[in-house]
Amino acid sequence: MNVIDRRLSVAPMLDWTDRHCRYFHRLISDRVLLYTEMITTGAILYGQKEQLLAFSAAESPVAIQLGGSDPADLAQCARLAEDLGYAEVNLNVGCPSDRVQKGRFGACLMREPDTVAACFTAMQEAVDIPVTIKSRIGVDDEDSYEAFERFIETVAAAGCETFIVHARKALLKGLSPKQNRSVPPLKYHYAHDLKAAHPELTVVLNGGIETVEQSTEQLIHVDGVMVGRAFWNAPWLIRDMHIAMGMGELQRTRDEVLEAYTRYCAQMIEQGVSLHWLIRPILGLYHGMSGNKKWKSYLVTEAPRRKTDVSVISEAREKVKYAH
Ligand SMILES: Cc1cc2nc3c(=O)[nH]c(=O)nc-3n(C[C@H](O)[C@H](O)[C@H](O)COP(=O)(O)O)c2cc1C
Repeated sequence: MNVIDRRLSVAPMLDWTDRHCRYFHRLISDRVLLYTEMITTGAILYGQKEQLLAFSAAESPVAIQLGGSDPADLAQCARLAEDLGYAEVNLNVGCPSDRVQKGRFGACLMREPDTVAACFTAMQEAVDIPVTIKSRIGVDDEDSYEAFERFIETVAAAGCETFIVHARKALLKGLSPKQNRSVPPLKYHYAHDLKAAHPELTVVLNGGIETVEQSTEQLIHVDGVMVGRAFWNAPWLIRDMHIAMGMGELQRTRDEVLEAYTRYCAQMIEQGVSLHWLIRPILGLYHGMSGNKKWKSYLVTEAPRRKTDVSVISEAREKVKYAH
């Protein structure tokens, strides 16, 4: 059984946190909790399940995030995920996209706490690994703290112990998913108040965390933080937060991480993956350093042209003026 440390996690991000990105993040920190992109139950049950669920044991522990609202389908997918070695199943109750709303899942489920509770129960009865919920703090004008707490209490009554709270509401009409990640204001106090009212629950706060100081400050109020965009832009921040949170020593330098990831890329290229795709998670590795712009532009120019030539990575590294 994988050990899950909830202090720090990388947020699920569609088209970003694929298996290559997770492999790279795991090279940086041996404890950060990694999430898949949201995978819908329909895609798993009627699509290319092997390809969608494939991951390497080296990424563990990994939580799979499911999108769906049919308890039986979710239970079936949760069982498949457990059999494959995922460490946690998470249900998406936060995505506001039109497509997801049409499928009656994601953020619109905040209006249906009983459905979420039924989904939770079906999944948790199907697996031994923990089932968790990632939600918003409300939708549209249903955004009072009381409504949020009622939602959580309903799902907690079904046995759910861990809630990841993206601490802004979702507007289901008129805003794109991208705008829905920045326009509605962050209200961290919803998550803080929830933890204070329900110390028995594990509450992980998500949204707008960009610095080490912000992350450690949040641990005074909640059990953990989940970070998305800031880790994509500057993945080395994972290491800085890991260390600041006392999650253990880390040995690999930035260049050692890069070397290990380059070896992984060579293996993936042999399996037919394009270098163009593999370089995406490492673009921010030298964020804030002299030569960072040249590193990135070399990678994005050369990788599409030389899709199977892993030496593009070491050539790009030459552009960064940094000792180790
Ligand atoms: C490109 C992108 C894709 C995302 N995809 C998902 C997803 O699949 N599931 C999910 O729950 N949230 C998704 N999110 C939302 C993030 O998990 C997170 O809640 C949000 O970005 C706020 O955290 P941050 O401010 O640290 O980025 C996505 C965010 C981005 C930027």
